[in-house]
Amino acid sequence: MTRRINVIGIGLGAAEHVTGQAIAAMNEVDVFLVPDKGESKSELLDARRQLCSTLISHSRWELRTIIDPERGPDAQRDAAQYREGVAAWHSARVAQYVAQIAALPDDAVVGFLVWGDPAFYDSTIRMVDQIAAQIDVDVRVIAGLSAIQVLAAEHRIPLNAVGEPVHITTGRRLAQEWTPEIGTVVVMLDGRLACRELVNRAPDSWIYWGACVGMPQQRLIAGRLAEVIGEIERVRAEVRAELGWVMDVYAIAPAPLGR
Ligand SMILES: C[S@@+](CC[C@H](N)C(=O)[O-])C[C@H]1O[C@@H](n2cnc3c(N)ncnc32)[C@H](O)[C@@H]1O
Repeated sequence: MTRRINVIGIGLGAAEHVTGQAIAAMNEVDVFLVPDKGESKSELLDARRQLCSTLISHSRWELRTIIDPERGPDAQRDAAQYREGVAAWHSARVAQYVAQIAALPDDAVVGFLVWGDPAFYDSTIRMVDQIAAQIDVDVRVIAGLSAIQVLAAEHRIPLNAVGEPVHITTGRRLAQEWTPEIGTVVVMLDGRLACRELVNRAPDSWIYWGACVGMPQQRLIAGRLAEVIGEIERVRAEVRAELGWVMDVYAIAPAPLGR
């Protein structure tokens, strides 16, 4: 027998986001390995535990938290230092995962529950590849509903203008990558609303912003960038004050989408 790893996209916390394929893959799992990111993210851990209780029909599953290694100060790093920092952090996590998995029975199925879809700004597949380079495992990946898709659905828009591209990037890279010809840009991992830097360069762009999309606390704002940026800042600060954290994602397009 070979141990198996199921990398499962779970959507954005609601049981209704989890596909039938993901539920079947969750039901195969004996041990879920979940990084413990500390107090501020414990709600995400609770959401995963709740999903397992709701969607798994056997009782042998177990959720094991793995203490997340120290990540270091990303904001002060340049791009090369950032990549090195992330690589070191992944290796430290991988070492912990390998130790846990190697101690399991040969026929065990291990699960990684990935927020959204594993294909977007998530390192689980890269880490599982590193695990597979060290121990014998079969790997399956199950797609999930991403914040990108839920943002578009909740705003009732297609992301691309007809025949035009969609560019997905991070807040960190937005200002350097944006050009008038780029089409729609979807921005994730933006802790400081980098779109503020486009207000003077592209005030007539259209922004579709969402915090906590697909969750009970969801907030949505859409409009001309220069006109709505102040409201987005205010609502974003409100959500952060209320929850202690905020996850937001937005799309910026040269003109309103879907009209
Ligand atoms: C590490 S990435 C993970 C993305 C995830 N794999 C996905 O497919 O949505 C985290 C970023 O996703 C976005 N995000 C995730 N969940 C979100 C939510 N419920 N509402 C708004 N943005 C969210 C935010 O931009 C956040 O900074």
